Amino acid sequence: MENLKIALGNKDLGRAIDIGTRRGEFLFRMKDYSRSYEKLIGIDINTDELDKLKFKEEKNVRFHFMNAYDLEYPDGYFGAVSISNTLHHLNDMEGVLNEMTRVLKDDGYFLINEMFHDCDDNSKKTHGMLHILEAEIDTELGRIHNKTFEKEEIIKVASDLNLRSLEIVEYSETFEFDKKIEKKLGKLDGMLASVSGYPKYEYFCDCADKIRKNYDNYGVKRCTQLLVIGRK
Ligand SMILES: C[S@@+](CC[C@H](N)C(=O)[O-])C[C@H]1O[C@@H](n2cnc3c(N)ncnc32)[C@H](O)[C@@H]1O
Repeated sequence: MENLKIALGNKDLGRAIDIGTRRGEFLFRMKDYSRSYEKLIGIDINTDELDKLKFKEEKNVRFHFMNAYDLEYPDGYFGAVSISNTLHHLNDMEGVLNEMTRVLKDDGYFLINEMFHDCDDNSKKTHGMLHILEAEIDTELGRIHNKTFEKEEIIKVASDLNLRSLEIVEYSETFEFDKKIEKKLGKLDGMLASVSGYPKYEYFCDCADKIRKNYDNYGVKRCTQLLVIGRK
């Protein structure tokens, strides 16, 4: 977490938009750790989460229902655009990245924050494996949820945007996040039940067994986050 604080601590964000904000997890980090901001806007299409966020709004912190593929702002409106742990929930990643680039002013900050699953820490591997299974089950059920990235894949996504002054930062999440993942492990049976009778059910059960074994041996921690910041 210290690395994230350092990376954001020398940034004046101006007007910033957080894409796929869900509970404002990354937006509130920008609020707490950036050197300054003028306004923070979080957008999402999940109305249940947005309703809960209404109570967290302030004069300069707002949340809106909006589709990432069609941002309702003029070109160059924002000093910073961020997308956190959302890229792997999109069927047209390029479409969203283009739209983010459009609303970002020249010299503005582009922030991509994503967890990666190819880490060396065995306890983090438990989370990586769990997330891959979750994405595969969601896909089987027709939801858009792609496999999480490898570290180099995230860096390539950012590099392909031709940003200047790329900063690449790794950080571990807080203990509370590790606990949340542990709670999710308790829901493995429920996840499997949602696909019982599907052709890949046996395969999913095998994956779940491997995850449980890894957890028994090493415990679980949330995967490392990679934050890439560049300027347009
Ligand atoms: C895993 S959550 C990310 C939460 C948070 N940003 C974080 O870092 O933990 C992905 C979010 O992306 C949102 N999302 C998916 N497609 C979207 C779209 N087309 N427009 C806006 N939000 C979208 C989902 O509703 C979900 O809340």
